[in-house]
Amino acid sequence: MNESAYIKALESTSRLSEPAIRNAIKSLTLPTGSRVLDVPCGTGTQMQWMLEAHPKIKITGFDIAQDHIKYSKEKLTKSGKIHSCKFITGDMKKFEFDNNTFDLVWCCDGLWPGSKEMGCPSEEPYSILKDMVRITKPGGKIAILFWTSQKLLPGYPFLEATLNATKSSIMAANPHISPQLHFMRAPAWLLKAGLENIQTQTFAADINTPLNDLEKVGLHFLFDMFWGRSENEVSKETWKKYKDITNPGSEEYILNQCGYAGLLTYTMFIGIVPN
Ligand SMILES: C[S@@+](CC[C@H](N)C(=O)[O-])C[C@H]1O[C@@H](n2cnc3c(N)ncnc32)[C@H](O)[C@@H]1O
Repeated sequence: MNESAYIKALESTSRLSEPAIRNAIKSLTLPTGSRVLDVPCGTGTQMQWMLEAHPKIKITGFDIAQDHIKYSKEKLTKSGKIHSCKFITGDMKKFEFDNNTFDLVWCCDGLWPGSKEMGCPSEEPYSILKDMVRITKPGGKIAILFWTSQKLLPGYPFLEATLNATKSSIMAANPHISPQLHFMRAPAWLLKAGLENIQTQTFAADINTPLNDLEKVGLHFLFDMFWGRSENEVSKETWKKYKDITNPGSEEYILNQCGYAGLLTYTMFIGIVPN
């Protein structure tokens, strides 16, 4: 995917996850003057939501993609919140921050362990997490969030279950990844990095009709991301039904059905840096 297509995917899917992420942000306690690192900040959307919920913080957006940093700067300028922001283009495997800099490190959909080819920053999460601990103040927090589940084909539970059971739909089914590196084992990663008081909380986002164009683009991106490569793993009938209900030209097009109701969840794993 080229950079602008990637930005479009982030922008459209963030409209869908918005209620879940905003609620996760609201659940945080961030006193006046708190310094927050959003890594990777992607298109800056969550920096904006963070400042809307906690206007008296200072936030640094950090991402490896120059385009994403540029896009984030423009977004935060338009929103009038740029005075509370800093931006850094860099690799999260090599933070150049001083020890004890931040009150919160926020890392959403950024620490998937896996290969470079899959777009992951590292094969294992521990070294990045240890460095996050180094740059966080004693008593500060590290919050890592992952997309954990979805239901996107209401009315077709067997079809959706069949598609979900294909290897290509499960990113984490990468055969090189051990169970310990699956994202639902993140509490153990945080403990291993030296954090205390580990808590796990899941936030849901409902997706309901009427859907606007951006939400439809986001849903098509998700259909493609989860099931776009599943054709050879399901029967011809299953694939035909899937193609029919996701074809905007078809009478069965699922996003035009009265009462479409989908959902997705994000899980936040959070821990405190010991004093
Ligand atoms: C799925 S996006 C998540 C962005 C944002 N946190 C969100 O939830 O919208 C992943 C981001 O990680 C960035 N990224 C990938 N490898 C990175 C690395 N080694 N260091 C910093 N950023 C990285 C990509 O450029 C992309 O913006």
